[in-house]
Amino acid sequence: MTFFNLLIAHRYILIIAFGNEFILIPLIIDPASNVSNVNKYNNHQRFLYVIQKIKSDLCLISDTLKIIQEQGFKSVKVLITGAAGFVASHIIEYINRYNNEIEIIGIDNLSYGYKERLEGLSLEFIQGDVEDIEKYNIRDVSAIIHTAAIAPLPHNEINPTESYKQNVVNTIRVAEFASKIGCKKIIFLSTSAIYENDIKFPSKEREHLNTTLVYPTTKMCAEHALNAYSNSYSLSTYALRLFNLYGPRQDYFREQPPLIGYLLRSIFNNEIAELYSNGEQSRDYIYIDDLAKVIINLLNKQDNKKGLKVLNVGSGLTTSVNEIIDILSKISGNEIRINRNSSEKFWDNYSSLFDRDLPLNKDYINKEVNKYSKSDNTILHELTGINCNTSMEEGLKKCYDFAKKYFNK
Ligand SMILES: NC(=O)c1ccc[n+]([C@@H]2O[C@H](COP(=O)([O-])OP(=O)(O)OC[C@H]3O[C@@H](n4cnc5c(N)ncnc54)[C@H](O)[C@@H]3O)[C@@H](O)[C@H]2O)c1
Repeated sequence: MTFFNLLIAHRYILIIAFGNEFILIPLIIDPASNVSNVNKYNNHQRFLYVIQKIKSDLCLISDTLKIIQEQGFKSVKVLITGAAGFVASHIIEYINRYNNEIEIIGIDNLSYGYKERLEGLSLEFIQGDVEDIEKYNIRDVSAIIHTAAIAPLPHNEINPTESYKQNVVNTIRVAEFASKIGCKKIIFLSTSAIYENDIKFPSKEREHLNTTLVYPTTKMCAEHALNAYSNSYSLSTYALRLFNLYGPRQDYFREQPPLIGYLLRSIFNNEIAELYSNGEQSRDYIYIDDLAKVIINLLNKQDNKKGLKVLNVGSGLTTSVNEIIDILSKISGNEIRINRNSSEKFWDNYSSLFDRDLPLNKDYINKEVNKYSKSDNTILHELTGINCNTSMEEGLKKCYDFAKKYFNK
């Protein structure tokens, strides 16, 4: 991608584009000087003549800009919601490093994110809520990467109304906003948790999915809403059904940290890791850089087809909890200390789900702890040609090195 483009040199004005911004440079030429009988004009007439010439050039320029807009001039300003989250902050770092012609605006209300994740990164950061997206006077973005959501499963179960508001209604707000400001592309981070009741693997992106838990159900609803918007307003939309992501900047401290973040914290704080189940359950893990490549590929796609394009983003391979523990133990040179509990105990911290006249079905959520997942990547390959094949050894080493610096060891 070129950093700036000389778009057109009119007779007296030069236009240069930086991404979506245009600069008009008046050329220091007196238009009246080419007129043969110039001496006939007095100063006032000369002045009017120059103004008239510039006015006619401005009309030409405005026509040119209109054509550029209609033909979809490649803009390079991207809005990322949930910017201070694990995934978004990493995507921003990746874009800064490999695609620095892309300008980034990031929004985050810091409900789950940390501002320190954005230290040293280049972006315009808005500390605010997606709910207020229309108030921040954001314009000229060519794509929105919508990552903001309530992601931890138990938080979604405990407060479903808030969860639907954050994960579904705010996605609709993003789509509304996109259609109002003429932003044609939305990349929405959905989840493979949608496959919670699958019995055939690898999981494929088929239409009628049967979800039971709140988190995957909200993501399904959001996908449906995006599909409707995509058709109604000619938006190009993608839903990435992400399998288990891991990488540097993963949360180490939230109430229920993701497995790898939690194990790294246990290593560096010398704590015993409390695990639920025997550790033999396997899932599809994907290293965060692999997702970043997929997102850059989709940002660059000139694709004006309506309708939501749904794609799995996984490695297509599975790794068990015990294998992850072994790899991390080898990398750290120490045995990780583990205390194993039964999977039901995982939910002991969330008693409000069971202290009801009609308690939550325990089978559903126990199944979640022991869930197996594996991605079918046929659509991912067809659409992007990308293989998410960073090995667990390589990915976990990068996580370990990052955490080592983070915990100052
Ligand atoms: N991490 C994974 O393994 C994984 C797997 C599947 C799907 N996903 C999806 O990817 C997305 C990002 O996940 P993550 O792991 O980075 O989660 P995260 O919690 O680290 O990041 C989400 C960010 O969104 C922000 N946010 C939440 N509600 C907001 C609001 N109303 N306004 C502004 N900001 C708001 C939070 O403060 C947080 O920084 C989520 O949509 C999640 O559902 C993640």
